[in-house]
Amino acid sequence: MQEGFVIWFTGLSGSGKTTLAREVERKLRARGMRYVQRLDGDVVRQDLTRDLGFSKEDRDENIHRVTFVAELLSKNGVATTCAFISPYREARETARARGHNFIEVYVECPLATLIERDPKGLYKKALSGEIKGFTGIDDPYEPPKNPEIVVHTDLETVEESTAKVIAFLEQSGLISIENDSIASARVFVAEGE
Ligand SMILES: Nc1ncnc2c1ncn2[C@@H]1O[C@H](COP(=O)(O)OP(=O)(O)OP(=O)(O)O)[C@@H](O)[C@H]1O
Ligand SMILES: [Mg+2]
Repeated sequence: MQEGFVIWFTGLSGSGKTTLAREVERKLRARGMRYVQRLDGDVVRQDLTRDLGFSKEDRDENIHRVTFVAELLSKNGVATTCAFISPYREARETARARGHNFIEVYVECPLATLIERDPKGLYKKALSGEIKGFTGIDDPYEPPKNPEIVVHTDLETVEESTAKVIAFLEQSGLISIENDSIASARVFVAEGE
């Protein structure tokens, strides 16, 4: 049976959690993994946790419910990606304790770049006071202290950040090593012959 795991992306809004979770998911499927599931704040908050807001209590409850699902999936052989701002360290530590093969990815990006990116126009609203309690502006974000992986999305391409996650999975023995360099070297030799 396929070994389950949880790849937990945490970081500010617009840092790249959804983008990377989708890309990692795509790469895993391309390798023939059949059981892959993404849990994403963008989707979960419209369904499983649609009754919740953005107070500390509600944010903790949001992560609590997702942790429950991620635990079930990962313990049953599913490659699970989680994309949540998840600003509070303690809630993430609970997710770590309950998830099977938990890998925390800190999706790091300076606030100035995020304000510039502003893919959803939320920073503009938060800075003008239209939205209150926005993480990174007037609500806290507690960065991970010992994440397995840190990606710097202001400096790396999506491809590079994704490659870091895939390499970690390979090195941990959670997915098999696919040696692209050997494969491309073979092609080169074949063409030269
Ligand atoms: N290395 C990178 N990794 C991920 N995203 C990147 C990278 N470089 C640039 N980007 C861009 O940053 C944006 C990230 O947006 P995305 O929706 O993934 O953020 P998010 O963290 O899911 O935000 P939210 O918490 O609001 O859902 C995208 O427009 C993406 O193309
Ligand atoms: Mg997102």
